[in-house]
Amino acid sequence: MTARKIIIDTDPGQDDAVAILLALASPEDLEVLGITCVAGNVPLELTTRNARIVCELAGFPQTKVFAGCDRPLGRNLVTAEHVHGKTGLDGPTLPEPTMPLQDGHAVDFLIDTLRREPAGSVTLCPLGPLTNIATALEKAPDIAPRIREIVLMGGAYFEVGNITPTAEFNIYVDPEAAKIVFGAGVPLVVLPLDCTHKALVTTPRNDAFRALGTRVGTAVAQMTDFFERFDLAKYGSEGAPLHDPCVTAYLIAPHLFSGRHINVEIETESTLCRGMTVADWWGVTDRAPNALFIGDLDADHFFALLTERLGRLS
Ligand code: BDR
Ligand code: CA
Repeated sequence: MTARKIIIDTDPGQDDAVAILLALASPEDLEVLGITCVAGNVPLELTTRNARIVCELAGFPQTKVFAGCDRPLGRNLVTAEHVHGKTGLDGPTLPEPTMPLQDGHAVDFLIDTLRREPAGSVTLCPLGPLTNIATALEKAPDIAPRIREIVLMGGAYFEVGNITPTAEFNIYVDPEAAKIVFGAGVPLVVLPLDCTHKALVTTPRNDAFRALGTRVGTAVAQMTDFFERFDLAKYGSEGAPLHDPCVTAYLIAPHLFSGRHINVEIETESTLCRGMTVADWWGVTDRAPNALFIGDLDADHFFALLTERLGRLS
């Protein structure tokens, strides 16, 4: 089987970093055509820095990294330093990147790549607010039918919200962008909090990263140590959820995940419910399904896969 071509759209973020490392460690499954950065967890200047730090940590400095949108479509940027630290990648001490940012805007890279590659061959993997993807779809509507699938981390139904009582961070930051993406008619797979809150980095799982004895293993363990302090205080659970790697793991091992093909709409009007993913899990409307909404994962096999793949790097 040939590797699936993907573009990772991201706002690193420690969990974004692990998602990128998993993709780069899996060349037989995934061919990373490029990484497009967006403002989200931290401002764009830092997400472009962090994405390059991660590529260099993985030993893939040749990866194409692009800067994209520095703010949501029509709102002020909301960031999450309270979770990810001042740099977005707090935890390990990693060198400043030396690899260059590519010339050109991330949105143009998305459009050009989708027009150049065979129709139906490129999968988009958004791990942050959907501003870049929505901007590309608005600027070049012809790309929509050329996208194989969009597999994204965002939203929630049973878990409801993490940045507000009703919204998950990525969708909350740019709900108008999310509305465009969910309405684009592109095959969509959504990894919401309902799934990612089951991907908990327990102590034995974090010890397994550290026990790899590699730079990558140590750095990942330090990253999860860092953001864990926030999630443990917040949820009191047995470990922090590793959200974004669920996207790249889904692409590698979809059999580890289960969900329902349902209708999901994005709330943009309400103040209280801004960015809520209104997911018709129970099929109580006649609205047409537009997404595979994942509800569960096999956490033990997910962490086994992740640890094995990370062990391949440096
Ligand atoms: C999402 O928000 C960010 O803080 C994480 O990187 C993840 O993409 C979880 O709500
Ligand atoms: Ca993210």
